[in-house]
Amino acid sequence: MQYWHEHSGDCRGEEPVNTVPVIAIDGPGGSGKGTISKEVARRLGWHLLDSGALYRLVAFQAQQRGVDLDDEPAVAALAERLDVRFDTATSEERIWLEGVDVTTAIRAEACGVAASKVAAISGVRTALTARQRSFRQPPGLVADGRDMASVIFPDAGLKIFLTASVEERANRRYKQLNGKGISVSLRALREDMADRDKRDSERPVAPLRACSDARVLDTTDLSIEEVVSTVLGWALDTWPQVIGQQQGSE
Ligand code: C5P
Repeated sequence: MQYWHEHSGDCRGEEPVNTVPVIAIDGPGGSGKGTISKEVARRLGWHLLDSGALYRLVAFQAQQRGVDLDDEPAVAALAERLDVRFDTATSEERIWLEGVDVTTAIRAEACGVAASKVAAISGVRTALTARQRSFRQPPGLVADGRDMASVIFPDAGLKIFLTASVEERANRRYKQLNGKGISVSLRALREDMADRDKRDSERPVAPLRACSDARVLDTTDLSIEEVVSTVLGWALDTWPQVIGQQQGSE
């Protein structure tokens, strides 16, 4: 079952002019966004925004501090003051919340489910907007999320919406979590994923949608390398001079 729909309008909007190129990669959990965005950013030497991590961090902190996820003003206040550091110095990115390494903790499936609850609070989304836009730094940004093309970077030069069947997405997440030593049941994952798709697509604020000006890519039967090459090919078409020069100088 697929819950998201084509966005009715295009997603270009009012945003301060910023010429730093952005590749916006949106899609449901397990569509491959994270892996693909990371690899594309690495190969281009661009910055990476993992926007889902911010929602996970807000949810994690709310739970740690005993803040009820239904208490919207209190959760939004946490989002405004989030003390987070993304450490990209090594190939394995680390995420620090108030000086504590929470890289693995925020990947737990329960944290993803809680994140999709706090992500439906408009005050949380507003509080995280400027922080997300601040990742747009030269030479370029690969932004991974649900509303990168529609809300955060409506002027992104390249907008991509990745999809995959819910079965395939649950399988991928299962392998990924197992690989990190986090044990889960495949069936429970599939159910969580379908619930999360539904909540992300039906929420009134920034629902998960493919913008009409996004390129939609179904990754169900594609390898990581095939998806990465497709995205890099589109990037080269979009910014022939920038990317061509970068690749030529490698
Ligand atoms: O991508 P990830 O699974 O880490 O995201 C966790 C949750 O955060 C998603 O289910 C979604 O509800 C929310 N999210 C969002 N907007 C984004 C990124 C993530 O609403 N740009």
